[in-house]
Amino acid sequence: MSDKAILEVNGLSKIFDVSKPWLERTLNGESKKTLKAVTDVSFSIPKGETFALVGESGSGKSTIARMIVGLMPPSAGSISFDGTNITSSDFGKIRRRLTMVFQDPYASLNPRWRVEKIISEPLRAFNLMHSEKDIRDRVAELLTVVRLDPLDGAKFPHEFSGGQRQRIAIARALASNPEFIVCDEPTSALDVSVQAQILNLMRDLQDRLGLTYLFISHNLAVVRHMATRVGVLYLGRLGEVGPAKELFRDPKHPYTRMLLAAVPDLYAVDQERPPVQGEIANPINPPSGCTFHPRCPLANARCRSEVPVPKVAVGEAIVACHAIEEGRTEPVAA
Ligand SMILES: Nc1ncnc2c1ncn2[C@@H]1O[C@H](COP(=O)(O)OP(=O)(O)OP(=O)(O)O)[C@@H](O)[C@H]1O
Ligand code: SF4
Ligand SMILES: [Mg+2]
Repeated sequence: MSDKAILEVNGLSKIFDVSKPWLERTLNGESKKTLKAVTDVSFSIPKGETFALVGESGSGKSTIARMIVGLMPPSAGSISFDGTNITSSDFGKIRRRLTMVFQDPYASLNPRWRVEKIISEPLRAFNLMHSEKDIRDRVAELLTVVRLDPLDGAKFPHEFSGGQRQRIAIARALASNPEFIVCDEPTSALDVSVQAQILNLMRDLQDRLGLTYLFISHNLAVVRHMATRVGVLYLGRLGEVGPAKELFRDPKHPYTRMLLAAVPDLYAVDQERPPVQGEIANPINPPSGCTFHPRCPLANARCRSEVPVPKVAVGEAIVACHAIEEGRTEPVAA
């Protein structure tokens, strides 16, 4: 892993207990049920870069985000931020440096608080400023940074549009002077015309403040605009990790190819387009071997029994796929 990495995730896993209550289980003779939301995920993010996590709904993107910002503990694995293992040490010391912007700016802002109280909350929570004047000045500065009016601090969230609310959420995320921001679908609740403004603001802030982003999005056009590196998740496992330019020009993993094929404008013109088929499987009872095998045009007997691990290097990408390891490009008879 890179020396310059500000965030390193190693062997991260999250298992949820999704069993029915004990009495109901006992009466019905049912056993405990678990759901593997994230399994053995490793990646690193160099300082100042944007690492995007992509994958269908339920692939584990938000679960990874929540573990990184300390909202839930991992079941296994480690997360290290600027050399400190935050899963084993005091997360409180790191928290200020690592913040999050959520998908829904309507739900993430307290409707009963004025904007100045919302934005200043991290300043007070982390004891970063004490004088009311300093806090007021900092809030005005932050509102200006996200291109709102300092006078907007006196208003309530319902007085703003969706895009403006996301600017307020970004101002709050910036209040504690973080180095790293996890952005979970930050523009997917917004109108298309507003999305571009927010994305451009985020890129501008990244350049000006030297921020590093973990960026989660369903929208591959948005990911191509934002990301320097991309990790492709399928049922909680990484199938492909690599530089964004290479991934969009020459996707390797059959699942990455399928995702990109669904957005024709993004897919390299000289690549053959595999058909999009099937749906993501039930994570409580996932398919054996490579969990993508029921949908994969290249699946064979090995794929149905052996889990591929992300170890195959192709160009600058790392891929978890038996077919790529074996150099197979043609579908085989079942
Ligand atoms: N608290 C929880 N308890 C039980 N299962 C959960 C919990 N949180 C998430 N899951 C399950 O874990 C899996 C991954 O969920 P997650 O929210 O991380 O997916 P996602 O990739 O963010 O999806 P989306 O694109 O829809 O936001 C899903 O099957 C989900 O149902
Ligand atoms: S391991 Fe097999 S099933 Fe999985 S993506 Fe590769 S070829 Fe397809
Ligand atoms: Mg999510």
